[in-house]
Amino acid sequence: MRAVVPGSFDPITNGHLDVIRRARAIFDEVVVAVGANSSKRYLFEPEERLELVRAATADIEGVTAEPLTGLLVDFCTAHGAGAIVKGARAATDFDVEVGMARMNQSLSGVETVILPAAAQWSYVSSTLVREIATLGGDAAPYVPAVVAQRLATRRAHD
Ligand code: PNS
Repeated sequence: MRAVVPGSFDPITNGHLDVIRRARAIFDEVVVAVGANSSKRYLFEPEERLELVRAATADIEGVTAEPLTGLLVDFCTAHGAGAIVKGARAATDFDVEVGMARMNQSLSGVETVILPAAAQWSYVSSTLVREIATLGGDAAPYVPAVVAQRLATRRAHD
């Protein structure tokens, strides 16, 4: 079965990558859906977020990434995916994910698998990575190398 791992990935972190790898261990194929949450402001443009997800997952066989513009359930139908995989770091994430999982199940019947984030990455979020990077800290331990390079390049030009 094919699964979708959706998110805004601003930018993709080691925690995201761990969830993508574990989703791929369960499912035959994984499509990463790079979307936007309409209530958030982003550091990276959609094209750059997609490019960084593709670069960070290039070495994982059976994983591709595509832009998500409409409803996630429509993306799942269009890509022939029977499941959504999400990571949850803590109870607060879990509550939000359960709400979305129920809504997506109601909209189209697609099921959501919620994976507990690896303890190693449970405190890592894109929000904190952006804050560390924009305030001059080193976010490299928490993101794929390609993202660390891009954050450093951005800082050099800001
Ligand atoms: O990384 P994020 O911000 O948690 O990702 C949120 C995202 C993009 C996965 C979510 O906002 C989403 O699914 N957007 C697509 C629009 C949609 O289907 N909304 C209804 C969800 S129940």
